[in-house]
Amino acid sequence: MSLLIKNGTIITATDTYQADLLIEGKKVKTIGQDLESEGAEIIDASGKYILPGAIDVHTHLEMPFGGTVSADSYEAGTRAAACGGVTTVFDFAIQNEGQGLLETINGRDKLCAPQACVDYAFHVAITDLRAEVLEELAVAVDYGVPSFKAFMAYKKSGLMINDAVLADLLEKSKEVGALIGVHAENADLVESRTEKFLAEDKTSAWYHYLSRPEFVEVEATKRAIHLAKSLDAPLYIVHLASAEGMAEVTKARDEGYEIYAETCPQYLYFTKDVYKRENGRNFVCSPPIKGQESQDALWDGIKRSDISVVATDHCPFQSEEKDWGKNDFSKIPNGCMGVENLYPYMLSEANKGRISFNKVVELCATNPAQIFGCAPAKGSIAPGADADLVIYDPQQEFTITQDKMHSDVDHTIWEGLKLEGYPIMTFSRGRLVFKKGKFLGEAGWGKFIKRSLRK
Ligand code: URP
Ligand code: ZN
Ligand code: ZN
Ligand code: ZN
Repeated sequence: MSLLIKNGTIITATDTYQADLLIEGKKVKTIGQDLESEGAEIIDASGKYILPGAIDVHTHLEMPFGGTVSADSYEAGTRAAACGGVTTVFDFAIQNEGQGLLETINGRDKLCAPQACVDYAFHVAITDLRAEVLEELAVAVDYGVPSFKAFMAYKKSGLMINDAVLADLLEKSKEVGALIGVHAENADLVESRTEKFLAEDKTSAWYHYLSRPEFVEVEATKRAIHLAKSLDAPLYIVHLASAEGMAEVTKARDEGYEIYAETCPQYLYFTKDVYKRENGRNFVCSPPIKGQESQDALWDGIKRSDISVVATDHCPFQSEEKDWGKNDFSKIPNGCMGVENLYPYMLSEANKGRISFNKVVELCATNPAQIFGCAPAKGSIAPGADADLVIYDPQQEFTITQDKMHSDVDHTIWEGLKLEGYPIMTFSRGRLVFKKGKFLGEAGWGKFIKRSLRK
């Protein structure tokens, strides 16, 4: 099986050039001028861009959370991913109390493997760092899972680990070459502010924001960075959403520390005002979306390359579940949708001139692949790499509406957003999985990616 994509403009993190691209089987075989290949199927990509498939390193598929399970199964979430140009998703395997790391990974893999429509990997969220689990970190790294997550928030649900445990985890990660991602919010402040507002009968979604405003995130971000610096351990901050947190990341990077920050499209597009809307609860995620100053700082961080990754934190819940919190913001399951919107939104911003297309590829594909150990097979376009590709039409206008999305969720926070340009085809290891609005993939196609250490 070979496929020849002719006359397209290839865009990587570093280059933009016109060339033909030959796919043989699951890999990119050759890139060059006036390529020919007998028997190959030919796609004319004149006027179109050819991009590496995006890698969404932050999704929560069918995750037990907030008194329910996030609404997209592995099948629905990876189907939506394919339709948004995402060819690899990283999901969080959450360790239950008493579980080992491989047990946690294998438990989720068993669920995911028969459903995955695109390739996938796991980070393990550590909740129970017993001595034997600390020792098992090296085993998980060898198994191809070199990244772990620590929640500094969600105390009541048992996900949170304390600072002493976080410090142990950071120290060990340095020893075994792993990378620790942190959800940085001050759990005690969240808890006390939530209780106070509810006692005062302040129950709307706006108080979700006020229970965890800027300083609540900033304090934990600074604490995590301080610990990582003190222990000389690398650190990855997930879903960074605050200006002051951004400043702290920049400072640490300028001092030479290996600190990475990820932000999400919802923090780049919306502001905290969404929580005053009638449907504000649909936007409830943690950390909450902040003010304009934070949004501006995140974009500046992208331009300075102090934000390394844009990923989604895709963790949607149905309207009915969001409605549990109509009269009590603390009962709203936390999380929003985004896996199908990440690449189209970021590429549309590039198309409008805000950043370059190369920058979007860097943030959504190349950096994620390098930081999380799946380069060079993933994250770029080069001979020998997996043929995970997106063909993008910069002329196509697209308005996001729920009925055009491919997940199982009954609403989208992105409803009505007008995009300039849209993906028209997605290939997962050479296989066409999305074409002009239609999902063409198959559950069980996606493979678990055994990762190496970051480059
Ligand atoms: O609200 C969110 N972000 N839900 C998903 C879990 C997490 O904190 O990443
Ligand atoms: Zn989080
Ligand atoms: Zn800098
Ligand atoms: Zn998350």
